[in-house]
Amino acid sequence: MAGTNPSGSVQEMGSKAEVPEGYIHKERDRGAPDAPLMQASVIDIALLSASPNSGPELEKLRHGLQTWGCILGINHGMSPEFLEDVRHVIKQFFARPMEEKLKYSMEEAEIEGYGNDKVLSDTQILDWNHRLFLTLYPEESRRVKHWPSNPHRFREVIDEYSANMRVVCEEILKAMGRSLDLDENSFVEQFGERFELAARFNFYPPCPNPDLVLGAKPHADVSAITVLLQDEQVEGLQFLKGDEWFNAPILPDALLVLVGDQVEIASNGIFKSPVHRVLTNLKSERTSLAVFYVPDPKKEIGPLETLIDETQPRSYKPVKNLVDLYFEYYQRGRRPIETAKI
Ligand code: SIN
Ligand code: FE2
Repeated sequence: MAGTNPSGSVQEMGSKAEVPEGYIHKERDRGAPDAPLMQASVIDIALLSASPNSGPELEKLRHGLQTWGCILGINHGMSPEFLEDVRHVIKQFFARPMEEKLKYSMEEAEIEGYGNDKVLSDTQILDWNHRLFLTLYPEESRRVKHWPSNPHRFREVIDEYSANMRVVCEEILKAMGRSLDLDENSFVEQFGERFELAARFNFYPPCPNPDLVLGAKPHADVSAITVLLQDEQVEGLQFLKGDEWFNAPILPDALLVLVGDQVEIASNGIFKSPVHRVLTNLKSERTSLAVFYVPDPKKEIGPLETLIDETQPRSYKPVKNLVDLYFEYYQRGRRPIETAKI
């Protein structure tokens, strides 16, 4: 199977009464939906932006990020109606006939476009997931051929979501800086003006044997931060803390903000990039939208000097283009951040 097909066949999922072998995990790697609920902090982003250099909301942000590596952000400037629109165009795209979606397929050497896991080895276990991967920003990097023209409002709605993501990500990165008593621009300056935003629209079809498969294998994000718009009804996302899995709560109008590896490095490990995975279920399909804020590929990312002293020695080497290691990681299990650890 390796090398013959740029991605596992998306048609395999959803239509069959049995799970094809390439998706079945070993027993020890399977998940269970009955996990305790993650007690994520709910942060008012508007309040955070209005906070001076200290205050309970900033403290809550720092505590939430240090405890779970993620927070739920409310009051982010996007109305519930707009978020409904975003979810609606995504669901409409995935509901289009397969032959239409395949027009946006990712090609052999690309990560952008529609499809599922690239098949890189015979032992690889595939995720029970279809996805569309698009660069949102900078706008000149967009590959318009991969942007669905159907539903006809897809481009307009996602363009507006992208503009909102730039603002929300910047607010959060600045607040993260302030929460550590740093200049608020410390993170954004290190990640550079030519940062990138990439979107991964996820669709998890119902699965005839959900306990055998995973919608997404355990992984941590290689971004600086990830902003996730979860399905408003269907659970599935889980976070690892210690050696226990927790279910992510659903708060329909909130954004789940995750620390990525590059904030872990820049914060010298004060904030850790959490390992997470997605379970599927028998009856309901699930959609989500992850937006990754990725540093300028030309920038070296290392711990901020202001966070290093005799009591807190440097824990990571500077690294460039950590995202390039992602695919290898996803197949072989070695986290890209391991290459940066001292
Ligand atoms: C992911 O982290 O890869 C997807 C998260 C989700 O679907 O909720
Ligand atoms: Fe992820």
